[in-house]
Amino acid sequence: MQLSKPVLRPPFNITRASHVVLTVADLAASRRFYEEVIGLLLTTEADGTLYYRGIEEACHHSLVLQRATGTPACRRIGMRMLSEDDLADAFAFFEQQGCAPAWVEIPFQGRTLHVTDPTGTPLEFCAHMPVEARQITSFASHRGGCAQRIDHYQIHVPQVPRALEFYSRMGFRLSEYIVTDDDQLRGVFLQRKGNPHDIVFFHGAGPRLHHVAFFTPEGQHLLKACDVAGSLGYGRGVERGPGRHGPGHAMFVYFRDPDGHRIELFNTHYQAIDIENEPVRWSVGDPNVSFPWGLPAQRRWFEETTPFEGVAVREPEPEPAPLTLERFLAEQAERK
Ligand SMILES: [Fe+2]
Repeated sequence: MQLSKPVLRPPFNITRASHVVLTVADLAASRRFYEEVIGLLLTTEADGTLYYRGIEEACHHSLVLQRATGTPACRRIGMRMLSEDDLADAFAFFEQQGCAPAWVEIPFQGRTLHVTDPTGTPLEFCAHMPVEARQITSFASHRGGCAQRIDHYQIHVPQVPRALEFYSRMGFRLSEYIVTDDDQLRGVFLQRKGNPHDIVFFHGAGPRLHHVAFFTPEGQHLLKACDVAGSLGYGRGVERGPGRHGPGHAMFVYFRDPDGHRIELFNTHYQAIDIENEPVRWSVGDPNVSFPWGLPAQRRWFEETTPFEGVAVREPEPEPAPLTLERFLAEQAERK
């Protein structure tokens, strides 16, 4: 199988996954969840919008919560550019690709570039945010899962090879990938910042947001977040884990927020900086991809996702057939 090669000197410099804009039904309910369970810090509340950042983050926000006018959704996922010049160069690139980029002014970001990628995923790029004091050593103020910084997004799309090809041209490098026995791509892990991923695309109905992930300092913070969730009545929202991933090797736990948006807390990623490292290949049938130990995820983890506001969804061909907890238990029962 021929994998798209990364463009090592792309015409602009995307540095990392930066922020996500979600809409929610009840800002007060979301506030309690994100502050007490996930442990994010409220930087600013303005005009009915909550701006959050992780405990190590100096930039103004990595999570933006806005009141939903309809079904709670994701408005955009955000990436950072190194400089204003990179934003301008990216605008020209997207125009050349027929992606219809647009300039918008966004609070606490200034000039921001809006564009939709070829999978239909709505993106925004900015090069500046106001700087806040890092709170990483303010231990007395840390809460719940102690979310340290935003790390990556996972998106479901019906055309994973198209996503790989386009993001490779933007300078993203493939760290790991998942294929079927007949070499069909089912998942790609793409990175700009030097760890396993900034954005992940998986085969599924989409484009839809599967999850947003925040790094957390220690494995104990995953358990602390679960305990806080349980004690505050969010226990049923602990959807998967704690467990260990195959690709990326992270220890993780997934939560559903009060609107069903999926948030991952994780740690123990590795560095992926040197270019001679070949992407790691995984077989979709290998149980170690999904659960090196323990049990597979519930069916809802594979199928339930957050819509992008106003974006049409296309069904994948073929339909995904993951090894769900339900299927795993049925197969175990049949063997007895
Ligand atoms: Fe993840």
